[in-house]
Amino acid sequence: AESAATGGGPGRSSSSGPPVSVADLRGAGAPAPGGTRRQYVLTAQTATVRLPSGREIQAWTYNGQAPGPPITAEMGDLIEVTLRNTDIDDGVTLHWHGYDVACGEDGAPGVTQDVVAPGEEFVYRFRADQVGTYWYHTHQASHRGVRRGLYGTLVVTPRGQRVDKADASTAQLDLTLPVHTFDGTVLLADQDKRTEHTAPAGTKVRLRLINTDSDPHRFALAGTPFRVTAVDGRDLNQPGEVSDAGLRMPGGGRYDLVFVMPDTPVALVLDNDHAGGLRLRPDDHAGTAGEDTAVEDTSGWPELDLLRYGTPTAVPFDAGSRADRHFTMVLDRGVAMLDGRPAYAQTVNGRGHPSIPDQLVAEGELVRFTVVNRSLETHPWHLHGHPVLILSRNSTPRSGSPLWMDTFDVRPGEVWEVAFKATNPGIWMNHCHNLPHAHQGMMLRLCYD
Ligand code: C2O
Ligand code: CU
Repeated sequence: AESAATGGGPGRSSSSGPPVSVADLRGAGAPAPGGTRRQYVLTAQTATVRLPSGREIQAWTYNGQAPGPPITAEMGDLIEVTLRNTDIDDGVTLHWHGYDVACGEDGAPGVTQDVVAPGEEFVYRFRADQVGTYWYHTHQASHRGVRRGLYGTLVVTPRGQRVDKADASTAQLDLTLPVHTFDGTVLLADQDKRTEHTAPAGTKVRLRLINTDSDPHRFALAGTPFRVTAVDGRDLNQPGEVSDAGLRMPGGGRYDLVFVMPDTPVALVLDNDHAGGLRLRPDDHAGTAGEDTAVEDTSGWPELDLLRYGTPTAVPFDAGSRADRHFTMVLDRGVAMLDGRPAYAQTVNGRGHPSIPDQLVAEGELVRFTVVNRSLETHPWHLHGHPVLILSRNSTPRSGSPLWMDTFDVRPGEVWEVAFKATNPGIWMNHCHNLPHAHQGMMLRLCYD
């Protein structure tokens, strides 16, 4: 269903006028001056993956690994990724979740490119022009492909700053930690699958948390105060120090947590499972790795409200700005027409993909969304190609740092107001990032005319 586009094949606009081929809206061909070309080959293939528990699962992978190879770059680099497909019969693509690439690099099958079938390849090229924590995943039948393992991380750092796992010279520890559920087992670890790390007391630690699942996850950091310095890859303004707080992260979302390593252990607790999660130990700590450190009970900690977190500062537009376009999306479930047939669906304004009308915008316009959740399920809403500025939730305006998100969790009964500038021409998927919901119809297209 996800490959179904309403136009006549990839890149064809169904509107009148000369056909625009979004497949021609490609990324840069060269790095910025001073940048380097970073080349990766990702081969989609079935493989056996071993989880930390020792359990082996049959996964769909990039390069035989799940998560796939971490992609890292510095600002100005050219990221060039050759995607090949060995034996994934669904076909695959790469979508750079949250990264505002040119439309032709966006990996939406049937819209920005044809799906990459077994034996085929596609080369993605785009410039690293925004820092932060992102991820990639297949966008073809993604409710199945991502769940089975077709995902990985994308991290871009400022020029001259690398993501180093442990760098004693700069006293930094920078860990990228995608969360993913494989057949009921939750994995919070990068490719090397380590769930314990050590760092000298005084080390500046950054944890880049990424929720690659469809359901939200709850995090808590026990043993140290910390700051949430970025949400969905974008820095927050003057985030204050917090402790004893839970963090709820929508499916598809990312949080960067920063703290200074104390001389006692720190635990990252996931979904209140105090035995799992991630442990960090000061390397001169008397205990040894594997020692059972009691972790505080974090289950009762209040949830950090990001709309009140950090410090307000100037924004290019706000709730008082006149929007050129205003779209209301009422999210619900029920029987709707899907591909010309009535079916159980997750709906937007009473319809399911591909029967939901396109949202039409023009370049330069200020676009506002009102997202209303009338269902009993949570919908992590995700727009491709543009971060949105959160204006309010349930009529309460955001009062903290400007909050730019690409995936925001609309819980049952909630109403969110968000806005963005239409600055990235093309055709963009706009959908629930609970991927089974998207598959069941909760997906539409935002099209530039
Ligand atoms: Cu992370 Cu359209 O997806
Ligand atoms: Cu949903």
